[in-house]
Amino acid sequence: MFINLRRVRKCRIMHLFSMCCVLLVLMVCWEEVDYHIVSHVQSYSYRYLVNSYDFINKSLSVTRREADSSGRFPYLIDHKATCVGNDVLLLLFVKSSPKNFRRRQSIRSTWGNHTYLKKELGVTVKVVFVMGVSANRHERGALQEKLRAEDSLHGDLLQQDFADTFHNLTLKLLLQFRWAHARCAHARFLMSADDDVFVHVPNLVHYLQGLVQQGAVDVWVGHVHRGAPPVRRKSSKYYMPVQTYRWSSYPDYTAGAGYVVSRDVAEKIYQASLSLNALLHIDDVFMGMCANVARVSPQEHVYFSGEGKAPYHPCIYEKMITSHGHEDDVAYLWREATAPEVSNVSSGLVGKMYCTTVKILLLCRPFFINSYSCKAAFS
Ligand SMILES: *[C@@H]1O[C@H](CO)[C@@H](O)[C@H](O)[C@H]1NC(C)=O
Ligand SMILES: *[C@@H]1O[C@H](CO)[C@@H](O)[C@H](O)[C@H]1NC(C)=O
Ligand SMILES: *[C@@H]1O[C@H](CO)[C@@H](O)[C@H](O)[C@H]1NC(C)=O
Ligand SMILES: *[C@@H]1O[C@H](CO)[C@@H](O)[C@H](O)[C@H]1NC(C)=O
Repeated sequence: MFINLRRVRKCRIMHLFSMCCVLLVLMVCWEEVDYHIVSHVQSYSYRYLVNSYDFINKSLSVTRREADSSGRFPYLIDHKATCVGNDVLLLLFVKSSPKNFRRRQSIRSTWGNHTYLKKELGVTVKVVFVMGVSANRHERGALQEKLRAEDSLHGDLLQQDFADTFHNLTLKLLLQFRWAHARCAHARFLMSADDDVFVHVPNLVHYLQGLVQQGAVDVWVGHVHRGAPPVRRKSSKYYMPVQTYRWSSYPDYTAGAGYVVSRDVAEKIYQASLSLNALLHIDDVFMGMCANVARVSPQEHVYFSGEGKAPYHPCIYEKMITSHGHEDDVAYLWREATAPEVSNVSSGLVGKMYCTTVKILLLCRPFFINSYSCKAAFS
């Protein structure tokens, strides 16, 4: 009896002790727990249980005049005739910055090479680079001169007079949709991509041609974020103050690294952008808000990447659409990814089995969160 009681007491003490430990750890790491778990649980429950974003309409609307003035910066470099007289399949905006000369140059000589695309694919793809002005006043003058020289050579820059900073990305988004509305509304599709994204344009064009045969309306494809929570950490560049966005979840949106919309959606987004407060600096989230007001939903395409770089392999090249984080390897990747052998790599039963196996090994590793999801191995 006596022994038993002691055992029980010991047990209780152990129990209490471990509870305290857990509590202590929780208290110490609360910020982490809150950041990684609580905010996601809250936002997913909101997204999947409530799933009503009517507050966007109610709380973030502004008058058309206010919205119009928020994106009304004068053009420093503009082209009125880029699309005139062309049957443009795809208008491809590359979000660039004044000093990224090298990135633009490597895009022009690889996946953005008009001559190649016209000759090999027989379609018109217009690649234009969009930017503001350097935020550094001292280097602005010299950079502008270089930009004008670059533009007189290639004629593919669009520049407005706002500071080209991360927190002004929404202004760049407005630039794209307004310019498309005014100067290229007949392009069948519009794409927006970062200048460190690799776009496999031949694969993309084949995919879009398939969509055209199905009518090509109501299209918004990319790497979809569903029920993403606003980041409340001040140190993050995606930090969202509660005063600006107080709800627990963003509406669905596609990663800004690269997404495609059909022209009817582009027009709807443009219209919606004229009714919303563009203070929200995260451009792809703002796009999601516009789409929500316009009642357009994004569709997932497993070969659009969000943050990560696609693995280097012919079985991947055969399917990939976008891959993020490329600068020095663009020429290499373009050569490899468009090599004639790639188109045959998964032909026949053996080829299919080979590529599925390779893709499972490459994409379905635990904790592998780069580029494409494991699902992509089976498509
Ligand atoms: C663009 O493609 C054409 C046709 O394939 C090729 O002749 C030309 O060298 C390419 N341009 C650049 C800058 O690589
Ligand atoms: C955005 O651009 C405007 C116009 O150039 C500038 O006044 C403002 O400081 C910029 N905002 C940020 C956050 O960089
Ligand atoms: C937003 O408000 C407008 C006008 O009040 C309305 O026509 C539209 O349907 C609303 N959209 C959403 C998504 O609630
Ligand atoms: C790809 O396959 C086709 C027919 O199966 C064949 O004619 C062609 O030569 C192959 N191409 C390459 C580069 O192997």
